[in-house]
Amino acid sequence: SRLVAPNGPYAALDVVAKTASTNADLASSGGADRTVLIALEQTAGQGRRGRTWASPEGGLYCSVLFRPAGVPAAQLPWLNLIAGLALVRVARSVGVEASLKWPNDLLLGAGAGKGAGILSEITADGSVVVGIGLNVAELPSDVEPAPGGLAPTSLEDLDATELDRGELAFRLLVELAQLEGVWRKNGGDAVESGVLEEYVEHSSTIGQRVRVELSGGLEILGVAQRVEPDGTLVVRGDDGRSHGVSAGDVVHLRP
Ligand code: BTN
Repeated sequence: SRLVAPNGPYAALDVVAKTASTNADLASSGGADRTVLIALEQTAGQGRRGRTWASPEGGLYCSVLFRPAGVPAAQLPWLNLIAGLALVRVARSVGVEASLKWPNDLLLGAGAGKGAGILSEITADGSVVVGIGLNVAELPSDVEPAPGGLAPTSLEDLDATELDRGELAFRLLVELAQLEGVWRKNGGDAVESGVLEEYVEHSSTIGQRVRVELSGGLEILGVAQRVEPDGTLVVRGDDGRSHGVSAGDVVHLRP
């Protein structure tokens, strides 16, 4: 943590070889706003909806604790989407084509496999832990496809050169600080801060036919129209009705 300057974007930064889950560690840490924890391996990596996130050595597992005072609670889900934008910037900086499948999957390469996942946890006191799992090295063959049948892939799968995880972590944190800083300065307004526009630009979901399975068992078939300023995805159902879908309600979103 001594690496971090008092006037820099982050309050603290720790790197550990191995832990159970960087999200779990930060969620119970009581840490300051903008505390970072990076692990090179996780033994109990958490995915969305109680799933596990395969976290072998060779990936990058990073969580950031935010306490965005002054941002309305309704805007906090944007941190999840902002982390996706930071990942797109990092992937492109190493020459890998990247886009975002709403809400939180980073798709890489022409085959559009899943290269990263993001798990954001918002607590009652208004703090948010944003957890990012980025597949860097080629994955062991036993990693299962993501729900919806998305094949897992990694940066090195698509870019044969060996990548430095320290360099990638640094770039990711620089991009995340830049995006989150502008967003927060604008009181969490996704339009004013430009994050909505950048999200739309990198979205592979908008304009696509989708089948959304909601946690209540409801299913919507239709075309994804747009992302609203509060982060919800609007799907025009085949019945002609528009549905606003918030990230927390989605079980599967399939093309
Ligand atoms: C998903 O299901 O797609 C989200 C995966 C999120 C994984 C990351 S790895 C760092 C952080 N710590 C965890 O336990 N999970 C997140």
